Amino acid sequence: GTGPDRELLTMTRAPIPPPVPEPRRRRYLLCPPTHFAVDYAINPWMDPGRPVDGAAAERQWRRLCAVLRGLGHEVATVDPLPGLPDMVFTANGATVVDGRVLVARFKHAERAGEAAAHRRWFAGAGFRPVHTASLVNEGEGDLLVAGRRILAGSGFRTTAPAHREAQRLLGLPVVTLQLVDPRFYHLDTALAVLGDDQIMYWPPAFSAASRRLLATLYPDAVRGAAADAAVFGLNAVCDGRHVVLPRAATGLAAQVHARGYRPVPVEMPELLKAGGGPKCCTLELRGA
Ligand code: ARG
Repeated sequence: GTGPDRELLTMTRAPIPPPVPEPRRRRYLLCPPTHFAVDYAINPWMDPGRPVDGAAAERQWRRLCAVLRGLGHEVATVDPLPGLPDMVFTANGATVVDGRVLVARFKHAERAGEAAAHRRWFAGAGFRPVHTASLVNEGEGDLLVAGRRILAGSGFRTTAPAHREAQRLLGLPVVTLQLVDPRFYHLDTALAVLGDDQIMYWPPAFSAASRRLLATLYPDAVRGAAADAAVFGLNAVCDGRHVVLPRAATGLAAQVHARGYRPVPVEMPELLKAGGGPKCCTLELRGA
């Protein structure tokens, strides 16, 4: 027959995938939310009139650090600077591939000062070379490393010419994806890399052409539901096995679990007031 019964049958017959392999140890760069605030609005989530609870933000961030360390990963920190309330979102500060660093160039003047802080941190930590983008480029907010390829968002912050610069300086082919929904202004708000050949994403955040491209590159991808995207569920950190994601994204947690991943829920409602989540707070230091 057709209809729901048939769908159920198909579901029960679907093979249960084997657990994904043990993750390797990762190194992440985070920044304490010491000066975190919503003082300006550069994305639709930000409302400077709405109070932010600094102590709660600090607790939520500490919990994220503890979760990442608990999974066996190393957490390094960059010192927060006064006057840079979004510096907690280290994912936007750079992209790191094989120890090579491309430091961001922020679109908005309010965040411009973060780039120099990242440049100093990377130079001090011994990374070489440390390039700085000459075009608007918001680091891992828009450039997500997936195996030997970079998936890159454009439309709101990082531009397509900046993708080409990243390809040249980081030495990996870059796939340009067009973001179309202002609530999902960075690629990492609508797509997360689960493994070298696996992603999860919310298709409506992308143009029709980019949706087709993603469907071709990742026919087996996890497609999130609107409700999970709306609570920033795609803003997830995956070490190849564990998926650290906002607790409210229960549908996505079930979907990745069914694929053999381990969902690890965290709560970051204060950071969400700035349009950020666990992935925005976490920059991966690859091959350092
Ligand atoms: N308020 C910040 C901005 O709009 C939030 C950045 C979130 N980071 C991210 N990787 N999506 O720039």
